[in-house]
Order: sequence, then C-alpha cells, then structure tokens
Amino acid sequence: MNKKTKIYLAIIWGLTLSIFFVLLFSYYNDISIFNLTFFLLTLLFVSNFSMFFNSMTEITTSMNLPVLLTTFTVFNPFWAGLIALLGTIEVKSQQLGFVWYKFLFNRSVFFLAASSGALIFKLTRPVLDGNTFPILSALFASIVYFLVNNLLVYIVVNLADNDVNQMSLLSYFRELSKNLITSYFLGLVLLASYMYFSKVLFVLVIILLFIIKDFFYSRLQQMNSYTQIIESFLKVIDSKDHYTEGHCERVANYTYHLCNEMNLSRAKSEKIISIAKIHDIGKIYVDDDILRSSDRLSEHEYQEIKRHTEYGYQLLKDIDLINDELEIIRYHHERWDGRGYPKGLEGEKIPVGARILTACDSLDVMITGRTYKPPMTKEEIIEEFKKCAGGQFDPEIAEKMIKLIRDGYFDDKFKSEEKIRELEFSLEY
Ligand SMILES: [Fe+2]
Ligand SMILES: [Fe+2]
Repeated sequence: MNKKTKIYLAIIWGLTLSIFFVLLFSYYNDISIFNLTFFLLTLLFVSNFSMFFNSMTEITTSMNLPVLLTTFTVFNPFWAGLIALLGTIEVKSQQLGFVWYKFLFNRSVFFLAASSGALIFKLTRPVLDGNTFPILSALFASIVYFLVNNLLVYIVVNLADNDVNQMSLLSYFRELSKNLITSYFLGLVLLASYMYFSKVLFVLVIILLFIIKDFFYSRLQQMNSYTQIIESFLKVIDSKDHYTEGHCERVANYTYHLCNEMNLSRAKSEKIISIAKIHDIGKIYVDDDILRSSDRLSEHEYQEIKRHTEYGYQLLKDIDLINDELEIIRYHHERWDGRGYPKGLEGEKIPVGARILTACDSLDVMITGRTYKPPMTKEEIIEEFKKCAGGQFDPEIAEKMIKLIRDGYFDDKFKSEEKIRELEFSLEY
C-alpha cells in the first residue's frame, strides 16, 4: 500500500468514527429489536447473494441500496448507518482472505453512505413529500448514498493502482448513473410494499426479484460459457499474431460505447459486443507466416488473409446461441461504398452490427498502428473518420464515433505524440 492510500484510509476512518459518535449522541433512541434484526438479516441476505456483474464495465449492481431505502424511512441516520455497516459484510469475500484494512474501509464506506443518505431523507422528506409517498426525498437520498459510496471507492481504487482505471471517468459515471436509476426504482417498489402492505410482501418482492434475476442469469451464464470458449480461441489468435494482441478485446470495448451511443436495444448490443470479441476468429486458419509477416503481402497472401471472415463464419455457424448475428463476422470488412470484401455489399445491405464493427476495428488499427504504419494521434483519427465517412464507413456511424472520440471516451487509449514519434523512428530504421 502506498503512502497516499494510507493517509486516505486514516482520514476515512477518522471521519467515520467522528460521525458515528456525533450521530450516536444526536439520534440515539430505543428501537424495536425485531425491526433491527429483520433489516439486518435482509441486508445480509441481499449483499451476500445478489450480484449483477457487468464484465464489460466491471461494475457490480447490488441490492443494498433498494433495501436501505426502506431503512431510511424506518430508522434515523444513526441506526440506518449501523445497519448498513453490519448488514453489508460479505461472508464469501472474508473466507477468501481477510484483509483488515479492506474490511474496515468497506464498513466505513457503507456507514458514511447510508447515514448521509438517511440524513438527507430525514431533512428533505417534510419539505418535498410531506405525508405523501416519499418519491422525491427517496431520490435525493439515493443520489447522496450513491455519490458518497462510489466516490470514496473511486478515490481509493485510483490511489492504490494507477493502471486499474480502464474506462474514462465520464463513461464510468454514465454506467453508474444507470445503476443508480435501477436501484432507485427497485427501492421504491420495496418501500411501497413495506409502507402500504407488510414485511411479508417486502420479503416476497425480494424473493421475486431473485427469481427473475436467476432466470436472466442462467441465460447470461450460457452466453458467458460460450464467450469463455471463444476467448480461449482468441488466445490462440493472439499468440499467432502478436502485433494484434488484445485487439478483439479492445474492439469489443469500443463497440460497447458505440452501441450505447446509437441507442440500440440492450439485447442487440450484447450480441454485437460478444461477436466483436471474436470477430477475427477465422485467423486461426490463416497461415502463421502470413499473419506475422512484416513485409508487404503478395496478392496471394492478401487473398488468404481476406478469407478470415468466411473461415470465422463457417467455424461458428452451427452454434445456435449466436446464429442470428453471425453475419457480422462475415461482413466486418465490407465498406459502405461497396468496395469491401467478401461480397462487396453496399450501404444498408451490410448488417448494422458489421458496420459498427468496421468502425471499431479500424479505430483500433489507428490507435495501435501496425507493423507497416505508426499509430495516429487523436486529431488525426478524427480527421480520418471524417474523410472516410460515406467511403469505408457508414456516415452516421462515423459521426457517432467522432462524437465519442471528442467526448473523451477513448482518451486513455491514445498514444502520446512522443510515443508515436518513437515508433515512427523505429519503423524507419
Ligand atoms: Fe478482421
Ligand atoms: Fe479485426
């Protein structure tokens, strides 16, 4: 652990202790032990079993906030904080190896987030909602809970490890805000069932959510195991063609952002992204010497490389799970103007997934460079997309791509001018 992290942790613990005692003295009251136990157990249950994990963004959605939202109405900030502190202990991660400072940090974060959420709820409820259902105060409480929670974690992650931030800050918070909206609405449903019906319905709704989650999860698991198999194939391609190592993974990441920007349905986006991860799978059939060659390719060799789209398609076409979007692999080297391969399809005859993939595939080549050409700078890449809109790229997709680049979504991927000059130098000599 570095010095900055140590100082940060000390500050958080100091803050937690002081706020703990301030709240204890200002809000301590006798509460029903039954209520306390009920919420503690419910929270322990959801924080130990309920995980929606997005492997693309590495963001986990938990059911903690939805349950805590109800505790904000039942308890004052001190008790709500204490319930969050104790109820979010994950038994599993303790078994994997107990690290005391991580444990204490997590306890502090949940205490601070929940007590500030509950405090905001208590303060805003009489003003915003009065005696009606607390839609607005619950919203403010959720936002505050979320901000405190994620900000404290974001800071420690960035202090501890500089390489860990794979996403730009902007897209990270965009993802989190989707998460917040989901949690808020789930929280309202739980709150309504508690307020207007009973604890029994509250528990039933949670169980129902779990059943729904498992239903989707088993489908997701199927998708995951298929992706894992394909990813093993990918390692083979990477080892064959070291210059493009990690290429498919990065392309999938760009695809994820572009699909979001294009407002495609979630199901469609997920299919396109998983195909993007394996789009060059056909290269496993292409001769090693051709893939690794750093000289200009002969016409015959070039024709052979071009076949990777068809090889990939043929390899996977019998897997039911991905059948309907597989054309993307076949057509990811088609061009908007019809001058691509293998079929020379034109415009909207090319499936939209393939058009998206073409843009993302090219973006990666521009960012990383190839044996025969150095990487490009951010500005050069924007110019290239402008130039090739309507030629290689679907004009609408090119425009969206330029917007994403300008908005800084890929800022952590571009190479610095210095680095590019170094690479240009090594290419020339
Ligand atoms: Fe390709
Ligand atoms: Fe590619």
